[in-house]
Amino acid sequence: MNLEWQDFKWTLRCFANMYDLPISVCLSREDVNFPIFEIDHAKCQGRIALHGAQVLAWHPVDTAEVLYLSPQSHYTEGKAIRGGIPLCWPWFSAHASDPTMPSHGFARSRFWGLESVSETQEAVTFRFATKWRELAASVEIILGDTLEVRLTTLNMGEAHELLGGALHSYFRVSDISDISAEGLENSIYLDVLPPQQYKRQVGAVRIVEEFDANFSSDAVVRIIDAPLKRVVVVEKSGCPSTVVWNPWIDKARSMQDLPDEDYRKFLCVEPAVLHSDAITLAPGESYTFSTKIRLEAHEK
Ligand code: BG6
Repeated sequence: MNLEWQDFKWTLRCFANMYDLPISVCLSREDVNFPIFEIDHAKCQGRIALHGAQVLAWHPVDTAEVLYLSPQSHYTEGKAIRGGIPLCWPWFSAHASDPTMPSHGFARSRFWGLESVSETQEAVTFRFATKWRELAASVEIILGDTLEVRLTTLNMGEAHELLGGALHSYFRVSDISDISAEGLENSIYLDVLPPQQYKRQVGAVRIVEEFDANFSSDAVVRIIDAPLKRVVVVEKSGCPSTVVWNPWIDKARSMQDLPDEDYRKFLCVEPAVLHSDAITLAPGESYTFSTKIRLEAHEK
């Protein structure tokens, strides 16, 4: 056998993990320094990066990919991957008081620890963990014919701590102009774009220009994609808000890790705990926010 050095390292790594990874999971051979788990299970296929504990891809068997992942994403420690489900933790957007802190927190731009991987006939379950100051995060990702992401934070310190964040889900769509998002009708939202005004949503959300809205709603959101003949259902728990975002033309052009035209290919629907809904965690207390994603056929 004539193995290149990279192949050899990959083989070693797979061998080392052979007893820990269930049969439906293997490590991608793309970059041994940036581990990505590939899931090929009777119920679904998917990919998860150790960096950010980030789901990059998931779809039930016999269905098209559900998540959007930018082909220009960075795969570098310290930089967020553009697409899939980045975990924004322990705050969403800018830090409440310190402008030197990274936007959307630390979780999406560092390697997490893998705690366990297991499988049943129904699903594969990953558990990852990380820490920031006195807060410990653990995320459980369950991939089957639904996808669940459950992010739990424990306050290990002796003082009260504030917690926020989001499950920043990028959903792949046939074309942004052909889809709508239902469930937020009549909800109040903060339009984050200047001049930052509160508005009320009239009807389903349709994207016809840059859209960046923080909805005060924990409602189930349904992304209706008639050309793809499917509805993506986004349920949430522990998240009082929902962020809906699409960068549209100009912002997409300014983003180095997104192809200019790819704003057409995704909609972000993000179960969120904004600064305005920040959770106060007492010492020893924990809090979980989660999302569950499933597909339905589009009947019309
Ligand atoms: C969304 C925000 O959640 O994330 C937007 O509402 C932001 O304001 C977007 O532009 C992308 O953020 P980033 O840091 O990944 O470029």
